[in-house]
Amino acid sequence: MAKLSINGQTVEIDVEPDTPLLWAIRENIGLAGTKYGCGIAQCGACTVHIDRVAVRSCGVQVSEAVGKQITTIGGLAVNGVLTRVQQAWINSDVPQCGYCQGGMIMAVTALLKEKPRPSDADIDDAITNICRCGTFQQVRAAIHAAAEA
Ligand code: FES
Ligand code: FES
Repeated sequence: MAKLSINGQTVEIDVEPDTPLLWAIRENIGLAGTKYGCGIAQCGACTVHIDRVAVRSCGVQVSEAVGKQITTIGGLAVNGVLTRVQQAWINSDVPQCGYCQGGMIMAVTALLKEKPRPSDADIDDAITNICRCGTFQQVRAAIHAAAEA
């Protein structure tokens, strides 16, 4: 058994300690907003926050997340109020298919905590999530809009 704190709730799940956190989030806890893309920590679709730091949850074992605060894309909005990043994504019409965007928003949210006014170079360095639909220009515009909101 593992006890996890996720989106402000404590859940107990029956998994092996070395189970990838992404599997636990999707299969055991049922939070399907966190996506499976590559499974090898390359694409960023599975990005969540652990203690406010963006991590690729396919590359983290459940045992490493015990005792920490996990936040998924589904835990960002509070009482249905979107964050400024989520709102900027809507305003800038960023998502195409949308598959990568939850992970993208988690990565961007962590970036803006660290660098409230990132330059284009900062964005290129920090946001390495892959978007098959090629929304990178819209992502960049939305990041600047969120930074100024
Ligand atoms: S599924 Fe985790 S980085 Fe691609
Ligand atoms: S919006 Fe389709 S993969 Fe990014």
